[in-house]
Amino acid sequence: MSAFLTPPSAHEVHVWQWHLDVGDDDIDRYWQTLSTQERERTNQFRFDRHRRRYVAGRGELRQLLGRYLGLPAHAVSIEYGSDGKPFCTSAPRGRAICFNLSHSEHTAALAVSSGFEVGIDVEHVRPIEACVPVEVFSVREHAEFSAMPDAQQQAVFFESWARKEACLKALGTGFTLPPDHFEFDLSVRGDTVPRFVGGDAGEAAHWRIGDLSLSPACAGAVAARRTDWSIVRMN
Ligand SMILES: CC(C)(COP(=O)(O)OP(=O)(O)OC[C@H]1O[C@@H](n2cnc3c(N)ncnc32)[C@H](O)[C@@H]1OP(=O)(O)O)[C@@H](O)C(=O)NCCC(=O)NCCS
Repeated sequence: MSAFLTPPSAHEVHVWQWHLDVGDDDIDRYWQTLSTQERERTNQFRFDRHRRRYVAGRGELRQLLGRYLGLPAHAVSIEYGSDGKPFCTSAPRGRAICFNLSHSEHTAALAVSSGFEVGIDVEHVRPIEACVPVEVFSVREHAEFSAMPDAQQQAVFFESWARKEACLKALGTGFTLPPDHFEFDLSVRGDTVPRFVGGDAGEAAHWRIGDLSLSPACAGAVAARRTDWSIVRMN
């Protein structure tokens, strides 16, 4: 087992990132650590590349959680919320490790916190038309977005998308709630707070979103329903 990791403090969110397109040796090593359910899930991917990326995502997730928990990767127990959010049930009493995983193309990112729910999203920047055809913006956000110069729109779109998805993943609902459940001031770039959550400014004040731009080509965000934390990049 690799070196033990000290869990995040109550005011930190640890963020890890890794590359999902790895060689056969790594895939074999990760495969050994997956649960029966995870192995079965790999059969649902039509393309080998997606299967391998899933194995590399779950495999490294288990490695890292195991290092926080002092367990071998295969012994980390993962269960699911009603809308599919994975959570860890292996933590010893008094040491609740929360996590959330995201991947976009060959990039994976993991957020780890101690005792509070967290959400993370990474998005490779691509043509906006190639995105899922859901309404991302509220009426007010849409007006702000349309008034922006074309040159800014792509970066703002993916930054906004990542913020909203990170928030919905912190809640654990994912897109069972609409993206405009969380509304932002689009003129604010980087770390931010929502303007409204479900139309409620009071609820919005409980949230904080940390910017996680991995590169100009990859936007990202980390979200939690508390304000007294910051991102610690672990690699
Ligand atoms: C959660 C959701 C937004 C993720 O979208 P995505 O495009 O795959 O985005 P990401 O790569 O950022 O996230 C995927 C990871 O989020 C985690 N995840 C899955 N469901 C989640 C949820 N409801 N909340 C938070 N995280 C979730 C998983 O770790 C998943 O990766 P893995 O399966 O490889 O471990 C989307 O799947 C969704 O809206 N799900 C909820 C509704 C639903 O379809 N439920 C059916 C299952 S019960």
